[in-house]
Amino acid sequence: MSIEANGKTGLFRILTDNTEYQIKADKNGVLKHIWYGPKTGTDMEYMLDYPDVGFSGNIYEEAYNRSYSLDTMPLEYPGIGTGDFRVSVLKVVHDNGSCAVDLRYDGFDVKQGKYSIPGLPAVYSNGDEAETLELYLKDSVSGISVTLKYGVIPKYDIITRSAVISNHGKDTVRLLSALSMCLDIPYGEWDWIHFAGRHAMERITERAPLFHGIQESSSSRGTSSHQQNPSVILCDRNASETSGECYGAALMYSGSFKTQIEYDQLNQTRLVMGIDPDSFDWELKPGGSFYAPEAIMTYSSDGLDKLSQNFHHVIRNNVCRGKYKTSKRPILLNNWEATYFDFNEEKLEQIAREAAELGADMFVMDDGWFGKRDSDSSGLGDWVVNEKRLRGGLKPLVDKITAMGLKFGIWFEPEMVSEDSDLFRKHSDWALTLPGRKPVVSRGQLVLDLTRADVRDHIYNAISAILGSADISYVKWDMNRSICGRYSRELPSERMGEIQHRYVLGLYELLERLTSAYPDVLFEGCSGGGGRFDAGMLYYCPQIWCSDDTDAYERTKIQYGTSFIYPISTVGSHVSAVPNHQTGRITPLESRAVTAMAGSFGYELDPNALTDEEKSAVKEQIVRFKKYNDLIHNGTYHRLSDPAADKFAAWQFVLPDMSESLVHGMIYKTEANMLRYPIRLRGLAEDKLYKLDSDGTIYTGKALMSGGILLPRSWGDYAPIELYFTEATEVRKDEKI
Ligand code: DGJ
Repeated sequence: MSIEANGKTGLFRILTDNTEYQIKADKNGVLKHIWYGPKTGTDMEYMLDYPDVGFSGNIYEEAYNRSYSLDTMPLEYPGIGTGDFRVSVLKVVHDNGSCAVDLRYDGFDVKQGKYSIPGLPAVYSNGDEAETLELYLKDSVSGISVTLKYGVIPKYDIITRSAVISNHGKDTVRLLSALSMCLDIPYGEWDWIHFAGRHAMERITERAPLFHGIQESSSSRGTSSHQQNPSVILCDRNASETSGECYGAALMYSGSFKTQIEYDQLNQTRLVMGIDPDSFDWELKPGGSFYAPEAIMTYSSDGLDKLSQNFHHVIRNNVCRGKYKTSKRPILLNNWEATYFDFNEEKLEQIAREAAELGADMFVMDDGWFGKRDSDSSGLGDWVVNEKRLRGGLKPLVDKITAMGLKFGIWFEPEMVSEDSDLFRKHSDWALTLPGRKPVVSRGQLVLDLTRADVRDHIYNAISAILGSADISYVKWDMNRSICGRYSRELPSERMGEIQHRYVLGLYELLERLTSAYPDVLFEGCSGGGGRFDAGMLYYCPQIWCSDDTDAYERTKIQYGTSFIYPISTVGSHVSAVPNHQTGRITPLESRAVTAMAGSFGYELDPNALTDEEKSAVKEQIVRFKKYNDLIHNGTYHRLSDPAADKFAAWQFVLPDMSESLVHGMIYKTEANMLRYPIRLRGLAEDKLYKLDSDGTIYTGKALMSGGILLPRSWGDYAPIELYFTEATEVRKDEKI
């Protein structure tokens, strides 16, 4: 049993294999957060202190008990206007203009299985591995009630949170903030880690000590964004990959979000996360409910490595869905960097023929196959094959390519419309633009109003028509701009604050419809690379193009940041040509390959431009990736270096039974007369013997983990690392142990 609920004492304990979360309803019905950390088996309230702090007021029931203040105690879901002056999670404006919500405990329920959330993605349970705790709260004055939902997957140390806000009153209210979670941590000196960047440089890891006040990472772009990611880690100041306490939270949401961390007057830490309140204003009518998206939380007392593994397990097994959750992903060759818009069917056939020769599984036709799409300033929305470019149409091309033994994939950017398109000429009101103002154009395009059912139906039908017209096995779902112009011609003026969230709900509905109708099609998410890399999108698309930056050196940093939360199987990563198209950097082909192998693996270049030597190398890489596929996608992943601080990047995969392990990486610079860099491996069995594939040397797991191994001697810059170990059963006399 992972949930222990005691209605008499008001103590609720959520237990995972290694962690414990405690909540308590006190005599006033205030729901306090008591504990999140290692298992204690004890009511941890004795660790809470209640000082009398000036200017921190007291609720009326405790008016003269100056040590009872909502402003200082750890709370589970703090509403606005109650005398808690820290960041709140729920802001309600009532009919009379007052803005307050004082939530008090009103009962609980424990349910088998994992709750789901109407219209929103949520962690799901495989069999009976999950339980749900529901805690009911209500504001007696207004009739607002909140159901706090907690889902627990004990074996992965995962606790999810969500909230349902309902209006049982007589008047319509406005929600100005309805966040998904709050985590109060009364003690400790914490660093926060978040993932920041820009287009073609996403999720660069930033770690900083908390300062007094509020620090935040957020997006107001209508997507989870390249600039910040809806995930965060709090770790103790000395935490490393293998030691120290850390908390992680990832929002399962693909729109604007906000994460705030407040380090308060008493050196307590509050973490809140949810839909970005700055672009949110939701009308909640009597009888209505609002569903906050899910936050996935985990805790590790053994450092960041274990924290990431918990996220990897739950995202791989309980977020990703469909056929490609478990079946091997095709090794694909995508023509984008090979041709950009300069292609016709002949050129594609030549590329595909060579891709088949090299051993790829799939050919993906990227942007430019439809409408009047000669450049990125026209054609979006017209999902009709451009027969001037693909003479003979789509089906004959797909038939030829599938006859080569390849699957066929296709690119769409369904959420967009170009002003220069038939769709816009017919339905200009379908674009999100502000009345009377010129729209903000980005990459020459506008955003379709996905809040509208007719727009969604149109997109569904257009994509279905293409998918039904030929044997298509893969869709790249791209999205290439941030969303502004938040005005829908269908909503009444007082509800324009709902557009951002309604857009995300519309997107999810469309994706659900399409992925259910085409269960054999692999959908890969993309937003100018990794501009919408979040657990929400992964519910529909089991892999996401990680970045438009395909430079292997920069990718080691981008993929490093991505790996803190997201499993390797979700990372779209390709080998591209050199000089690299984003940076001009030249890296060895093998380094590009090992970097792309930390992902779904594929190529994004013109294989006809490769030398014979390069072609043989690519053939061998494809065979090698197929051999390592299970180890890479289903194995345990360890970061062995910090590419921002170290002179090399190195990462390791280990099979769950510890019988095989692979170290990949890149030595950034070679210096004359240098000592080789040592690394310590992780996750092996101490008493097993491991044979290094390249030279047959045998090592004990203990030696590799406590002593380590030297990285290969490098030559030139950006040199590849590959160390592949298999379990050895015997030791020859002359072998090292
Ligand atoms: C952005 C994507 O990230 C690229 O891979 C490519 O598909 C282009 N869009 C095409 O316009």
